[in-house]
This record gives sequence, C-alpha cells and structure tokens, in this order.
Amino acid sequence: MLYRPKPVDEKQPYIVAHRGISAKAPENTLASFEQAAGVAGIDMIELDVRLSKDEEVIVLHDRTLQRTSTGNGLARNYTIEEIRRFDAGSWFHPMYSDQRIPTLHEVFRQIGSRIWVDVEIKSDWLHREPQGLLEEKVLDVIQKCGMEDRVMVSSFDHRILANLKKVKPALITGVLYNLTRDFFQLPSVLAEQVGASVFVCAKREITRRMIDDAHNHNLAVYVYTLNSVQDARRMRAYGVDGILSNNADDILNVLKNNIA
Ligand code: G3P
Ligand code: MG
Repeated sequence: MLYRPKPVDEKQPYIVAHRGISAKAPENTLASFEQAAGVAGIDMIELDVRLSKDEEVIVLHDRTLQRTSTGNGLARNYTIEEIRRFDAGSWFHPMYSDQRIPTLHEVFRQIGSRIWVDVEIKSDWLHREPQGLLEEKVLDVIQKCGMEDRVMVSSFDHRILANLKKVKPALITGVLYNLTRDFFQLPSVLAEQVGASVFVCAKREITRRMIDDAHNHNLAVYVYTLNSVQDARRMRAYGVDGILSNNADDILNVLKNNIA
C-alpha cells in the first residue's frame, strides 16, 4: 500500500498512533510501536527523536530520562550503550521491564516496512545542538533504512524542516504550530516558508479558519492529541486529514466502523 499524506477529499482521516499505542504500552518503545503496527487500519506512528552523547538518533520525548526510564538527567549526556541499560517500560507496567529506549534505526528495522512513521524532531531550546547536526543525523538514518518514501518529518523548529527540504526536496514535512510563537500566522504562510505539505496543530489551538486556509493551499491538517471519541468525531466533522491519538486502535475502531 502506498501511503501519502491524505488527499483532502478523502472521507476518513489518517489515524496516527501518537508515541505508539501509548495509552496501553510505554510511549516511544518498540512494544508500543509494535502494537500500533499490528492493527490494520492504523496508518502511521508518531515518535519523538533527539541525540545521545555519541550522536545516535534515539526515540525519546523528554530531554531528560527520568519520567519514562530508570535513567536520570539529560539523555544527551549518555552514550547509546549507557542508554540501553535503562529500563524504559517498568514505569508504565512491570510487564514491560524488558523495554529499552530504542534508536530510530531499530524502530525502522522492526516496523518500517509495515507502517508510515511521523518522525518528530525535538529541538532543545535550552541545550542547542550544533547547527544542522540533528537533521543530518536523522536524514542519515532515514536514508540508510530506505525510509524516504514512508516518513513524514515534523518539528516545532521549522528551520530544521527547511534545511531538510534543501537537501532532500522530495521529503514530506509537517510544520508544528506553536501558539506563542506562531499566533496570527496562517498555516499556509508557515508551511510555504519551509516547503512543508502538512500542518500539525494541537486540538485546543486549531480553528475553522486555519483548516480552511490549509485546505485552500492543498495542505493536509493533522491534529493532536485526540484520545476521546468525542474529540475525534468533532475533528473528523471539521474535515481534518490526520488524527494523532494515544489510543489510536480504539479511535480507529469507532471512526472507521462508524460505531455510535
Ligand atoms: O507531533 C505532535 C505532538 O507529538 C507534539 O507534541 O509534546 O506530544 O511531542 P508532543
Ligand atoms: Mg511528539
């Protein structure tokens, strides 16, 4: 099956498993991604990436380790070998004690042939990466794993997306909306500045005007994080193109089977 950011005239939005099926398995782990990849009809997983001390691309949401693993402090201060020793599952449930913080490479290798991946590049404002380093490392993994045609790269840091498009114009990118910074800016303006084809926005920040503007400029609109059936239905009625959810399996079941 060929996945593309959804054409705006299709009836059903894409279903994106946010950090995997993160309501039922520890977020951003292979267990969570495997659960998503095992559900027919989930179109994509979303994951967050940053760098380890030795510049491996790791899959981790926070800049620090303690919320989602047995590690402590900045992930950037640890080598991948050290990071692999931390338990990234027990905080969620003891049955996941074997889970580790995966590398992007490991995720692509395990599930990349089965599902699209939204790679959200986390750029750390407090601890800035050297110019261009993050995107270079991420692109390198994407290319080594032959995932160019099955990823969308998104970020709140739109310069990263612009840099990627310069090197790889065919790459699908999504601008994440930051209310404080992007207030007053329409999706079409933000996306066109960096050549993005997807506009990604939080459910509390999206407006009818933004959706219309995006669609008038042939941009897909993805909304996060829709965990309730009510929210998902409301956004589908708005005509959004992608729904990011922590319980994507349940949302899919309700939306695609039209369960009341
Ligand atoms: O990519 C959408 C969403 O994941 C952005 O917020 O904090 O969940 O990474 P966050
Ligand atoms: Mg994210």
